[in-house]
Amino acid sequence: MILVRKLQILALIALTVAGLTFISLPQQRQQNRVVLPLGEVAYGAQEQRGPAHPIPTHIIGALGQVSNEALAGQPTQRELKAAKDMHLSKIRGKANDSLEPKGGKIVLLTATDGKGHNGAITNLLETVEENREEYCAYHDYKYQFINITKHVSPSRHPVWAKVPAIQEAFELNPTAEWVWWLDTDAIIMTPEIDLASLVLDPEVMKTKIACDRPIKLPNGKPSGLTVSCDVDVNMVDVIVGQDHNGVNAGSILFRRNEWTMAFLDMWADPMYVNRRFERQEQDALNHIIVNHPKIREHIAIVPQRVINAYSVGGDEMGWRTGDLVVHFAGCWVNNECDKRWQDFWSRRQVIEVQD
Ligand SMILES: *[C@@H]1O[C@H](CO)[C@@H](O)[C@H](O)[C@H]1NC(C)=O
Ligand SMILES: *[C@@H]1O[C@H](CO)[C@@H](O)[C@H](O)[C@H]1NC(C)=O
Repeated sequence: MILVRKLQILALIALTVAGLTFISLPQQRQQNRVVLPLGEVAYGAQEQRGPAHPIPTHIIGALGQVSNEALAGQPTQRELKAAKDMHLSKIRGKANDSLEPKGGKIVLLTATDGKGHNGAITNLLETVEENREEYCAYHDYKYQFINITKHVSPSRHPVWAKVPAIQEAFELNPTAEWVWWLDTDAIIMTPEIDLASLVLDPEVMKTKIACDRPIKLPNGKPSGLTVSCDVDVNMVDVIVGQDHNGVNAGSILFRRNEWTMAFLDMWADPMYVNRRFERQEQDALNHIIVNHPKIREHIAIVPQRVINAYSVGGDEMGWRTGDLVVHFAGCWVNNECDKRWQDFWSRRQVIEVQD
């Protein structure tokens, strides 16, 4: 699959260099894509199931015109990067978002060491970076990758490296107002959605709070508390979704300010780390929310699907067409991550710019 992609990318370079005009796509391939006017986006055919490792649709869109036979050799890393940069520069800022915050005020953070099992998803990091770089280019957000190895310490479970990685993302991006942590095992399915009109704009945020819903404990039982309907959205510094086991920290947004910096500092307190909660930092967050009302005022709990829909689940949690993200939390249980991943990947909305 990588070979095919590389060959196709080389084809683009060959085309660009030779200045050839496009030849129409073979009919079979055309089924997988929709040609759109500048800046518009569309879903792949919902019912269609692609091959096991489908070629990203926008690459087909740009490159599918040339047959592999036309190609002589392997592209170099430099050529591959040039083709990718060209695609990103074509779509950069084309979303033309109007609500604040927008552009460079938003950082999307992917932090991993690139190892781990991750449910044996084929080319996970490569695919994820492509998906997120494209999303960030379209909205002019900052895409930030952090190799988490340096934050892993033998004294704590590796997932705790998340907290220093978020702190580092703020340090690396001094003008960022919001940092969006998104677990590596997640696909941006609907990249046309910008984060301000989804949840960050204050007026929108008011409407997205999971108002009156019970706050759960990590064991799924009610805590006895409900999410307040009387939220001062200007005080909200953390946005997180909640599933049947309480909050899920796989997709979580942080606003830059003194409060957040102090909160991050406290979240990774050795007392929580050494408590060895079943779900580590996530259960610690739940503990803090349930036991600290003054901190709770700064944390907006939103319905799961707003920022963290799952690959399976009912209307409360499972991804539905139009949701921004699909997160493959727990797919390893049935050893289904790769299968589900490929399925969603082939169905995601793609951004294309017509030449
Ligand atoms: C971008 O948005 C502005 C303000 O809404 C509008 O005037 C402009 O035409 C838009 N540009 C594009 C390329 O859509
Ligand atoms: C992260 O850093 C470690 C240690 O230097 C290295 O082995 C690993 O390949 C890196 N991972 C990525 C994805 O860059």
